[in-house]
Amino acid sequence: MKKLATLFLVLTLASLANVFGGTPVTLKSPDGKLELKFEVVDGVPQYALDREGKPVVLPSKMGFTLEWRDDLAHAFVLKDTKYDSFDETWEPVWGEEAQIRNHYNEMLVTLEQPIGSVESMDHSTEKKATVMQIRFRLYDDGLGFRYEFPMENALVYFWIKEELTEFAMTGDHKAWWIPGDYDTQEYNFTESRLSQIRELWDAGHKDGGWPWTGFSPTGVQTALQMKTDDGLYLNIHEAATLDYPTMHLDLNDKNMVFRAWLSPDATGYKGRLQAPCTSPWRTVMVCTSATDALASRLILNLNEPCALEDVSWIHPVKYMGVWWEMISGKSTWAYTNDFPSVKLGETDYAHATPNGTHGANNANVRRYIDFAAANGFDALLIEGWNIGWEDWYAKQKDFVFDFLTPYPDFDLPALNKYAHEKGIRLIMHHESSASTLNYERWLEKAYTLMNQYGYDAVKGGYVGTIIPFGEGHYSQPINNHYHYCITEAAKHHIMVNSHEAVRPTGLCRTWPNMIGNESAMGTEFRERINPGHTTILPFTRLQGGPMDYTPGIFETDMGKIVPWGQKMKTTICNQLGLYVTFYSPLQMAADFPEHYAQHMDAFQFIKDVAVDWDKSLYLEAEPGAYIVTARHPKLSTLNKAAEGVGTLADGKKGVVSNATKFVYDLPDDATIEDLWHATPHDVWYVGGITDENARDVEVKLDFLKPGVKYEATIYADAKDANGIPDEHYNAQAYTITKKTVTNKSKLKLHMTPCGGFAVSLRAL
Ligand code: NOJ
Ligand code: CA
Repeated sequence: MKKLATLFLVLTLASLANVFGGTPVTLKSPDGKLELKFEVVDGVPQYALDREGKPVVLPSKMGFTLEWRDDLAHAFVLKDTKYDSFDETWEPVWGEEAQIRNHYNEMLVTLEQPIGSVESMDHSTEKKATVMQIRFRLYDDGLGFRYEFPMENALVYFWIKEELTEFAMTGDHKAWWIPGDYDTQEYNFTESRLSQIRELWDAGHKDGGWPWTGFSPTGVQTALQMKTDDGLYLNIHEAATLDYPTMHLDLNDKNMVFRAWLSPDATGYKGRLQAPCTSPWRTVMVCTSATDALASRLILNLNEPCALEDVSWIHPVKYMGVWWEMISGKSTWAYTNDFPSVKLGETDYAHATPNGTHGANNANVRRYIDFAAANGFDALLIEGWNIGWEDWYAKQKDFVFDFLTPYPDFDLPALNKYAHEKGIRLIMHHESSASTLNYERWLEKAYTLMNQYGYDAVKGGYVGTIIPFGEGHYSQPINNHYHYCITEAAKHHIMVNSHEAVRPTGLCRTWPNMIGNESAMGTEFRERINPGHTTILPFTRLQGGPMDYTPGIFETDMGKIVPWGQKMKTTICNQLGLYVTFYSPLQMAADFPEHYAQHMDAFQFIKDVAVDWDKSLYLEAEPGAYIVTARHPKLSTLNKAAEGVGTLADGKKGVVSNATKFVYDLPDDATIEDLWHATPHDVWYVGGITDENARDVEVKLDFLKPGVKYEATIYADAKDANGIPDEHYNAQAYTITKKTVTNKSKLKLHMTPCGGFAVSLRAL
């Protein structure tokens, strides 16, 4: 009895302490290893995170500064703490595995600035308390928390000046970072200690895309990957960023405290909110190995379940494109050189002189359709099909494209018919030139045109200065624009792949028609991409969603295409490895058909590889160094794109994709009837990539089915291969060997500098 009374007293004191500040309220992860502590210290909310008793995030302040009223940064009392836990397994429409476990413990704290404790211009704080809740979710692999503002509140409409959320690091960690920027994410990563960011920031900032809008010499973007001296892999990012600006981080390099730095809108505000509402989740991933960091689904789990009832029209896509021709400089997007200035509706394209370099011409597009169809692809992207490319770039032009009118040498109906008859869908291209205003003007008509001709995927683009002027690429209004395009596209059953749009935060879970983004430095940067770049992206950019990295370059010496071209830091086998180490349900084979034709044996891997998986294993990895990944294809979506084309009115029936042929061991000329009568073989793909260092890896095949023999086809850098552009550059040297293996076998693989490997495994 005495014991019980003591316990009661302790509990009462504990809860009183919670109300008045002092003793933190705590939450543990399901495995008990992570512990979150929250407390209000002198009216200021703050949190801290430990792992197995050791600090990971030191006490970090939370709150906001606001316009027209006292800040949400002091005078708080803790009114209530509620706990919950959740354990559910969900199935993504596409992804790295068929099932994802969402398992967390939750704590919701309700904070109040009591009536009269703060002031506001509308006097609301004299009549009501200001309520701010913080919802914490603690997973075995990290923390998510967000601010919530219920309607019953002195605070209903409010304008954010700054979000004050801190992430106080425990030391001078190693980090892989890109400079904070309101307009571009297209940067090489810098690997350094946190304390070196300031001295390296300028060099990093010059090494990026355009336009550049930096804000602080210690500003960096998320997802920020770090490694502590104790070997913990920490990652700060955000999840479910909707109706809110994107979060950057600004480092105080005296005490290693990051503070949230939101992207302002044109008037300088960093979010206009209306209760009831929530902020995006702020995330801190904590893993004990790099491979666990790759396997983390923290960001997806913090997003809402699928919002679409019918997802039958969404499918993975392996595609080629009339694209690299323009990126490499061989062709142009523009049709004519006649016009220094184009005015849509006035410029007379019908009588313009063709420049002879326009890539998206009927004959060339047919050539690509033929090649893509002959090699079992699903789709073909064509850029430069529509009028306006003569003065699209860097002119800050509002009425830049109409997304409807083809150039005179691009016969849209005929090319679609031709493609569909061969089992290929065309992917529409909508470069907005960052005029979001203009794009929204045409959006409905443009999507309707796509529906009319059976396009079911669009590649968008936001190159240049955002219009409306003054907005950046990641402000609240522009984030809302990207989201509007996704939700409108869903109404039209259109899948979206946006380049230069905001870096993703897992929204593809909720809107799985968002099948890709670039939103980082991709292959278009050619020789400017640093060695190791692709070993960092899966830890950073890809945490939020798939990347349209556009791999598959076989002619890596661009000087063979145009006189000014330079050598890319890669090898053919490095390019092959990317199809497994990078996850995307939309995967491109980016090079020219004629370049693949010279290496059809190596091209076979790109033909055979699947793009959607029921299982992924991250075998070995270190950011900035190397990644080795194994994946098992998801049979239910393997032929989905091909069957989709078969259902088009003018489509050839019975199309079988090449990955399907590989899994079912069907001949090149197989039809859908052959597929009905075939049984799948157990198939795995393994890919590896390395930075400028050569590396030997041993891949244990213990994930294969016991007692089953598999044929392994191994695509490896040749002994004399070299992806470093020096006098020994030899990027196209590879070997292809076949071996019979079992789950007891180990494959010894050598990766040359900037090299890699790919292996396909099919049960015999
Ligand atoms: C930049 C995109 O990333 C690239 O893929 C595209 O070709 C150009 N913009 C033109 O839209
Ligand atoms: Ca780009």
